[in-house]
Amino acid sequence: MSLSLNHIWTGIEELQKLLKSLEQPFEFAVLSFQGNEVVININEITDTAKCFPSIVISPNPMENLNGLHSRFEPDSLTEVHMRKCSNVTEEQISFLKQYIPYALLPLYANKEKRTITISHFAQSLDGKIATAGGDSKWIGNRENLVHAHRMRALCDAILIGSNTLIHDNPALTVRNVTGNDPIKVVIGKSNELNFDKLLENNARVIYFTDNKNNCLTSNVETIDASTSNGVIDSRKILKTLYTKGIHSLYIEGGSKTASNFLVNNAIDVIQLHIAPMIMGSGIVNFSLPEISAINESISFKKFNFTPMGEHVMFTGEVKRR
Ligand SMILES: NC(=O)c1ccc[n+]([C@@H]2O[C@H](COP(=O)([O-])OP(=O)(O)OC[C@H]3O[C@@H](n4cnc5c(N)ncnc54)[C@H](OP(=O)(O)O)[C@@H]3O)[C@@H](O)[C@H]2O)c1
Repeated sequence: MSLSLNHIWTGIEELQKLLKSLEQPFEFAVLSFQGNEVVININEITDTAKCFPSIVISPNPMENLNGLHSRFEPDSLTEVHMRKCSNVTEEQISFLKQYIPYALLPLYANKEKRTITISHFAQSLDGKIATAGGDSKWIGNRENLVHAHRMRALCDAILIGSNTLIHDNPALTVRNVTGNDPIKVVIGKSNELNFDKLLENNARVIYFTDNKNNCLTSNVETIDASTSNGVIDSRKILKTLYTKGIHSLYIEGGSKTASNFLVNNAIDVIQLHIAPMIMGSGIVNFSLPEISAINESISFKKFNFTPMGEHVMFTGEVKRR
């Protein structure tokens, strides 16, 4: 197919928006690329779609697809089978395989009645995400940055811990791709937090804290999450977000934040962008309670490694305990 990846991206991103408001049961979607326009039909194969390059996305096997170009069957949160393809390049196939599952996040969340979570880190070969002093720019490469922005566009919200806000002062937007900026969620109680950059362009910011005395601008939606030990239960955060209509969450660190989610059995997918460097010291990706046997490690139902420019990305579906 003579389509650019950006064109395919538009299709994936628009499909996801459509699925958020879908009321009928989803059987399949047909994305047909009509010139510069992407037309999406749900549960319907139109004659027009047969005249244009088209992609069918169907979690269930479908046989009656004469005239349609390519068919992808998403099998889980990270896996997609390609059943039929014509005129699709290897580059297009890996792109589609990478992002089709996340386009279907609204369906998974609806089925499970909970917020689906994806944790992402850019790390060194020895699992470090920042120096001890907090420098993390740039472990990942350009491809990873664009990937992270695509993931932000496909998730309802993005979450970070207070140290990441203090060290990185990120914007958490999707500025490298087309799509909507996610809602931004911060956890912590530090008095040093500055939300100005997050709030740019009237962004919605939610702040979970057990520091009632923290004086914040009224533009930040503050959620009082009092705890006895200072650690807010990740599952409670997810429940609150779900009731607010946030059904997919991209957790962008740092270590303490993502580790709390993992300890609470509250991460569905882990994406680790692995850069060819050894730091030898610094902040580790996940820091969990000590185990005494290898078989107590966190393991994965499914996993794969995909190239990211000259780097590689591990994607794994966490085996829930
Ligand atoms: N390479 C990468 O992909 C990547 C991504 C993100 C960040 N980073 C780096 O990681 C470093 C920060 O990581 P970090 O582990 O030090 O900090 P962090 O995870 O960003 O923030 C930790 C803080 O967030 C709050 N917090 C997190 N989970 C909480 C919970 N369940 N309940 C209550 N509070 C919670 C606490 O804040 P209070 O202390 O305020 O209570 C905690 O001290 C930075 O250097 C940043 O640059 C790297």
